[in-house]
Amino acid sequence: MQIIKVKNYQELSQKVAEIVKNHIQLKSNLVLGLPTGSTPILMYKLLVKMNKKGEINFSQVITFNLDEYFGLSANNIQSYHYFMDKNLFSKINIKKENIHLLDGKTKNPQTECDKYEQEINEAGGIDLQILSIGHNGHVAFNEPGSPFNSKTRLVNLDRETKINNGRYFDSAGKMPNQALTMGIATIMSAQEIILMATKNKKEIIEKTLKNMVTEQIPATILKQHPNCTLIIEQE
Ligand code: PGA
Repeated sequence: MQIIKVKNYQELSQKVAEIVKNHIQLKSNLVLGLPTGSTPILMYKLLVKMNKKGEINFSQVITFNLDEYFGLSANNIQSYHYFMDKNLFSKINIKKENIHLLDGKTKNPQTECDKYEQEINEAGGIDLQILSIGHNGHVAFNEPGSPFNSKTRLVNLDRETKINNGRYFDSAGKMPNQALTMGIATIMSAQEIILMATKNKKEIIEKTLKNMVTEQIPATILKQHPNCTLIIEQE
């Protein structure tokens, strides 16, 4: 795992936005894996700016989001559909048909997840996967204990995740207990991975780097990826 240290959140976001831009300049139909949460928000703002200035053209780019809450519809303001639309998709020249997100309202989660895997394969696999990390070491919603060979599936959310993400909901009680998420194997099959870490993730990043590879800290598997870069904000 390559490690790049940056001074602050602005620099972290700028660096990742530049990486995305460079990839799209090299491959206009890039297959891009995208995260949600607080970490990538500024990076998305910068991508929107670059698109407005004509520096990035998203017209051929294909995206796959990492995860979605189970039970939330696309127009629920807590859904990751809503988040992505608000922060990125509604503001750039991406084609609707090139955007892929798991359907939180699906009646048949297994079929939905299998279809997602198939769509990723049909797109030729993910070229560049942007990731963030949870305080418990989760990547996407692959909580501690997630099998390394897992594919896209329905999962139960960890207690810590419910506490951390509950702040976005009116009351933690309204937060779904389950989510649909790309699996660890799905993420690991990306050609290249960028793991973004803000300074509040110092502790889990240290654990990830120091510990042996273990399903108890899902992010540790990234150390076995042939082309993974951790970009970390240092105090
Ligand atoms: P955050 O979430 O970017 O809001 O810290 C990351 C995660 O839980 O994976």
